[in-house]
Amino acid sequence: MIIVTGGAGFIGSNFVLDWLAKHDEPVLTLDKLTYAGNLDNLRSLEGDARHTFVHGDIGDRELVARLLAEHRPRVIINFAAESHVDRSILGPGEFIQTNVVGTFNLLEAVRAYWSGLPDAERGAFRFLHVSTDEVYGSLEAGDAPFAETHQYQPNSPYSASKAASDHLVRAYLHTYGVPVLTTNCSNNYGPYHFPEKLIPLIILNALNGKPLPIYGDGLNIRDWLYVGDHCAAIRRVVEAGVVGETYNVGGWNEKTNIDVVRAICGILDELKPRADGRPYAEQITFVKDRPGHDRRYAIDARKLERELGWRPAETFDTGIRKTVQWYLDHPEWIANVTSGAYREWVTQQYG
Ligand code: NAD
Ligand code: TYD
Repeated sequence: MIIVTGGAGFIGSNFVLDWLAKHDEPVLTLDKLTYAGNLDNLRSLEGDARHTFVHGDIGDRELVARLLAEHRPRVIINFAAESHVDRSILGPGEFIQTNVVGTFNLLEAVRAYWSGLPDAERGAFRFLHVSTDEVYGSLEAGDAPFAETHQYQPNSPYSASKAASDHLVRAYLHTYGVPVLTTNCSNNYGPYHFPEKLIPLIILNALNGKPLPIYGDGLNIRDWLYVGDHCAAIRRVVEAGVVGETYNVGGWNEKTNIDVVRAICGILDELKPRADGRPYAEQITFVKDRPGHDRRYAIDARKLERELGWRPAETFDTGIRKTVQWYLDHPEWIANVTSGAYREWVTQQYG
């Protein structure tokens, strides 16, 4: 079986759903259910004997040690993190706690478990750490995209905390021999994306007649990857990645923020026109820039293609259309997330 941490969040839940759609190998999801963790994302697995949910913190070494001893996973995939740059600017403490200290505690529990395994299981075990392209810092127009050898130059408390976790993961291989893999991925989008990030925020604000806030001049560039393609890349790295290697995952889809927002507005004009018939783009509003806003991210994903044969299946046009359609088709999920009803349930259930 495999353990997925952070599996109630955006990418983690997509990964768990995809995994169980393609395999019968059981999954245990360990998630603290912060504001970003939502069991609604995994609702379709209720009653599915292949899936177990455990509410808990990756930093809780005793809990993790108990889960490892009991379930004996052959793979752990670590998605658990605080993930939103703007929140890291307002309050970096949680980012250090989960992304740095939490990852450290998780690695310690994994090291103890792994070193006690019989030889064959020890050799086959993998710890895959899911990280971000933001650890590489910011590119200027015309710079080559980030390759795996690019210098680490994190600029936000979020990216600095992820960089620290990447270094710890690396050290656990070089010092203790724990068989780790790391993936550094560009910006994801798709179903179950919490509406604090650009794409879901724009879709929901547009539908609710609210302003569509664009930071600064709107010309910052991100390299967008459909979440299903990210999940496929991770499955491939688990299956065939070389221990100790890092793989960059990207969509070959560099877009300015203003172009992303205009694309969403155009699709909504077509699929769900405004009652007054005016274009959604009229709701675009330029707002104060994010402090230290990285200008451009772009991923060179050739290593993953060359060595493991992965390429994204979606283009930005196909992926963004699917995504907008998903939000139009899931008003209950949206209502639950935006009203915070799922948080009340977490308090009731877990105290
Ligand atoms: P998310 O914020 O949607 O989900 C994070 C999940 O982790 C939530 O379910 C949360 O409850 C859980 N969590 C937080 N702290 C925890 C803790 N201490 N113990 C256990 N669970 C905890 O994030 P996401 O967008 O799904 O990102 C998942 C991973 O992928 C993160 O590590 C992030 O750095 C990385 N990543 C994200 C993107 C992106 O575009 N979203 C891109 C590249 C890499
Ligand atoms: P975000 O989705 O927060 O991802 P990240 O900062 O990790 O790349 O933001 C994507 C881009 O969109 C980033 O350049 C900041 C910008 N942005 C806005 O212009 N307005 C917004 O309301 C948000 C949330 C982001």
